[in-house]
Order: sequence, then structure tokens, then C-alpha cells
Amino acid sequence: MTKDLRTLIAEWEGQAVLTGFDQPTGTWFFVAIHDATLGTPCGGCRMRVYPTPEDGLRDAMRLARGMTHKWAAIDFDHGGGKSVLAIPRPIAGEERSALLHRFGQFLNTLNGSYTTGVDLGTTADDMETIKEVSPWVFTGHPALGGRVDPSPHTALGVFACIQAAARRVFGSDGVTGRTVLIQGAGGVGGPLAHLLADAGANILVSDMDPDRARECAEQVRGTVVDPAAVSDTPCDILAPCAVGATLNRDSIPRLRCRIVAGAANNQLEEDADAERLAARGILYCPDYVVNGGGALLVGLIQRDVTDEVELRRRLLGIGESLDRILAEAEERGTTPLRASYDRVERVLANHRDRRPAPR
Ligand code: PHE
Repeated sequence: MTKDLRTLIAEWEGQAVLTGFDQPTGTWFFVAIHDATLGTPCGGCRMRVYPTPEDGLRDAMRLARGMTHKWAAIDFDHGGGKSVLAIPRPIAGEERSALLHRFGQFLNTLNGSYTTGVDLGTTADDMETIKEVSPWVFTGHPALGGRVDPSPHTALGVFACIQAAARRVFGSDGVTGRTVLIQGAGGVGGPLAHLLADAGANILVSDMDPDRARECAEQVRGTVVDPAAVSDTPCDILAPCAVGATLNRDSIPRLRCRIVAGAANNQLEEDADAERLAARGILYCPDYVVNGGGALLVGLIQRDVTDEVELRRRLLGIGESLDRILAEAEERGTTPLRASYDRVERVLANHRDRRPAPR
């Protein structure tokens, strides 16, 4: 049972929740601000039909916490925040544009104390629509032809991480000849399938949208897997690239893979699931480290880093960051999740120390 809005807010460890209700469409707006230690909170804007508005708020809170960790993991001066548009039904066309404009006006009331960009359920086009009324959204950079979609860049970071993890587990061939099951063939999962196939991996792909799964599988000569069968399907590497909480006490005992590394946010239903995966001998690569490419790209471009070679180098560097975390976990005999949390804590503590005391 989902808790009510009041309980969710009262129990949250984050800093603030801003709420709005869009009467014309019946959409709830939630902006969750988790932590501003490192800088102004920034995080994507998700649009989804949730069973209840409470589920939308809960998602926003969990995602905002993930953003705090993600920015800290790449040591960027942004805080953790996320927005959710909890729509009552799929909304398209002019109605969608009007909704996005009203959301942009909602963002304007925050006057830059939270900025956003694309996330699951929204597109680069949607961000352009918000931009028509609000400057507080990332859409790109003039030096890069105006518009930049972070998703394929997230995929590049995920690819580098999968390679790093595969080298650790399987040796120097990495993903070559290995089977990767990609769960979700959307903005990140799609490009990831291509990168992996080009590197010689066999691709299995599943998506709630059967057409999207088939199309992706055809492009990379892969095989479609029924979404209901993902946890039971044998593979070397499972890459969750859709919604969160797919790794939990029910699914983990059934998994038949050696590595989990993917783009989805909040893959674990609870932190204890990292222990459950370790106990099964499955190497779990912390999601917010693996999927940091989108955030890294947004952060770098905001700092006017637009050289494509440099951007690519930095994105591939995410694989090296993950590798350092995996090495540390191995040395300390702990899970990669624990090792990465400790790293995040060190970064946050460092900044707290450097901050001048309030007068
Ligand atoms: N939504 C993506 C993420 O969570 C990319 C993104 C990051 C978009 C930061 C805007 C800001 O990583």
C-alpha cells in the first residue's frame, strides 16, 4: 500500500517538495529537492501514468535522491532534484504542449533554484516546448547545433561500464561473444544495443512496447524476449534500461546472469537488494554511477565544454570511475553499492566542510 502524500513528505530525508495540480489535464506536478550541498539542484523531468499521485511523488523523491548521488559520483557542482508529471492518461499533441507550457510556468516560480531536462516519458522535443516559456530547462548548446539529446550519451557511459564490468568478470575480451539482455529499448536502451552489437555482443531485447522491441532486435540482429520472462532468461549481462525497482526479493533469486549494469534509475527496490545480488554471485554495478553520462553531458555543456572528442573522452571515463569502485569493493570485501555510497559521502562531506558558516 502506498503511503499518503502527508506521510511521504513527513518521512522524507530530502529538503523540499513543491507540488502543483494542473486542472485542465488532471496532472500532478511534483518537484522533489533532495540535497543542495553541491549546488543548485538539477535533474530530469519524468512523465508517466502512475497508479496514484502518491506513487508519482514517491518516484520523484527516490529519483531526486539518486540525482544527489549521481552528481556527487561525477563530482559536479549540482544538487539532487527531480520533477515528475503524474499524468492521468497518455497526453499528446496540443494538449501535451499546453501542459508542458504550464509546467514551464510552474518552473518559473522557482526562478532557477531547480533546473531540468529530459527523462523517462519525455523527449528532447518536450524540452524544446518547455523552453518556449521557461529558461530553466536544458535543451542543448548553439555550438552543438542547438539541440542535444542526452540519452545516446548516457548510453555511451553505460556501454563503457558494461565493458569495464565484463573485463573484470570474464577477462580481456569484455563483451565480445557475451550475451547482453537489454530491458527497455527506449532512448538509452536503443543506442546501447547498437554499441554492444558493434562490440561483438549478442543482444536480447525486451520492451513493454512489442513493436519497439522487434524494431531494435532487427537492427542489431538480436532476439526479442517477452517482458515477463526477463528475470528468468539466461544471459551474461542484464542491462535494466527502463523503469526502476526491477531488482527485488522476488526477481533476484530467479536471475540467470553474472553482471547487472544498466541505465535505469533506482534499479534496486531497496538497498538490501545489493546484498542479495552479491550473495548470488552477481556483480551489481550501482545504477547512478553507470547512468551518469546524461548528467555529465548536461553538466559539461552547461560549462561550455562542447568539443566532441573531449565529451566522448569524459563519457568513456565513466567506465574507469566504475572500475575504481569495483576494485575498491573487491579490496574491502564489500558491495560496489557500499563502496560507491562511501565515495559519495566523502564528496558531500568535503563540500560541507568548505562551505562558509552562515552569518
Ligand atoms: N534524466 C537523465 C538522468 O537522470 C539525464 C539528465 C540529467 C537530464 C541531468 C537533466 C539533468 O540522468
